[in-house]
Amino acid sequence: MMNNKLEEDLSHMEDKHEYIQIKSPLEDTVIGMVHALTQKEVDTAIQLAKEAFRSWRDVPLNERAEILYKAANVLLEHMDEFTVLLMKEVGKDRKSANSEITRTADFIRFTADTAKSIHGESIQGDNFSGFNKEKFAVVTREPIGVVLAISPFNYPINLATSKIAPALIAGNTVIFKPATTGSLCGIKLVEIFKEAGLPEGVLNIVTGRGNEIGDYIVTHPDINFINFTGSTEVGLNISKKAHMVPLLMELGGKDAAIVLKDADLVFAAKNIIAGAFSYSGQRCTAVKRILVVNEVADLLISHLKEEIQKLQTGNPLEKQVDVVPLINTKAADYVWELIEDAKAKGARLIYGGKREGNLIYPTLFDYVTTEMRVAWEEPFGPVLPILRVNSVDEAIELANQSEYGLQSSVFTENLSDAFHVASKLEVGTVQINNKTERGPDHFPFLGVKKSGIGTQGIRYSIEAMTRIKATVINLSH
Ligand code: NAP
Ligand code: G3P
Repeated sequence: MMNNKLEEDLSHMEDKHEYIQIKSPLEDTVIGMVHALTQKEVDTAIQLAKEAFRSWRDVPLNERAEILYKAANVLLEHMDEFTVLLMKEVGKDRKSANSEITRTADFIRFTADTAKSIHGESIQGDNFSGFNKEKFAVVTREPIGVVLAISPFNYPINLATSKIAPALIAGNTVIFKPATTGSLCGIKLVEIFKEAGLPEGVLNIVTGRGNEIGDYIVTHPDINFINFTGSTEVGLNISKKAHMVPLLMELGGKDAAIVLKDADLVFAAKNIIAGAFSYSGQRCTAVKRILVVNEVADLLISHLKEEIQKLQTGNPLEKQVDVVPLINTKAADYVWELIEDAKAKGARLIYGGKREGNLIYPTLFDYVTTEMRVAWEEPFGPVLPILRVNSVDEAIELANQSEYGLQSSVFTENLSDAFHVASKLEVGTVQINNKTERGPDHFPFLGVKKSGIGTQGIRYSIEAMTRIKATVINLSH
């Protein structure tokens, strides 16, 4: 349906398709072209997925698992190509690109292992008053049908696979809409599954801009499940339009690192800086604000300053860096607006605050107040606000005032204080003495409030993309 080799694409420019140029965020160069699919082509892809579902659902689980194990191996065989592509297409540094691929191969294998251990159950009727043993239910898990997987730009391999692999192992077929910047990686990923033996029609990629084909796909009557990762804005739009279609959504976040007075401040500072600035903070789980109690704020800030200075900034094609140019100018302009707003409203700039094109230097602000946009908005970029608080209760209150509820960190040496704070936080996950982060990928991963719907994580994702079926046996008949 499409290909990812620039030369081949260019040679097809005479055909009737429209193409989208994929530009590298690192250099202003076109690194590939993808088709902007028409509605008719989207229909064809969904039709193929619908037809393939009839046979794929009946392929024995161990055969589906074999294909996944093979896909994990094939992916690793293509490590070098994927690394370079991830670096060029979404601006990852080499280390992060490598780890995304290894993690994805592990994810695929673990998915196959997990599915094999998910069994149905039988329920005796006599557990309920008035019924006897002659009635019991055999409860099995059934695939749902055609799953629409929509992924964001920031982990084009991992976040695509975290939808595709659990959907496939459960017997669903997939329509995969990658982020436009990230779709060269998406196309290659689909080739990996095909090379591993996935039958025709089981996994179908549809490329094109979300704001052009998105509404058409999400409202298509033959889509049976939508698994989306991306911004809260787009997620909300999808949830308003999807009629009676189950949704699984991973959306934005404003993860707080709460630092209590007895925290190991050197350790907390190291963790927070790594959590906030790796891949320039373009991670849903990046630390996006610090709430620190006044007693230790100055000391924490001096350690944060020491750590932030160690970050390497620049073009990952030239050297190993932590902070890379942002994905596009719109993203960089947005982060810059937040920086300007904080400065104008009196935040104290501790470090950074510099920009060269789309490269924004790691930026740390102290004395951020609740009037400043950076206190509440998700920058998806390398700016970290510090809000000083008078008490643990104030930290909890500020943390919970956010519209988001993905994760939070609590740094303290006192486990019972940690549990107290954790129990009050309105988030999917609390990390005690660690930066906010998703892995390991078999843990549950979810957001509350505007951070998502439903639970991901290997077993949870398989369960979400299957439905229960009860067959009731009546022996007395
Ligand atoms: P985005 O702009 O929301 O895009 C996400 C995906 O949605 C892309 O594939 C995009 O396609 C597609 N899309 C856009 N408009 C659409 C529409 N009307 N209907 C259907 N699909 C549409 O997000 P992003 O910039 O790629 O990623 C950054 C955001 O994702 C951040 O807010 C971040 O917090 C969030 N995120 C959350 C998690 C999590 O696990 N909670 C993980 C990663 C990222 P196009 O690229 O063609 O526009
Ligand atoms: O933003 C992507 C999300 O999956 C984060 O993963 O491992 O960077 O915390 P991680």
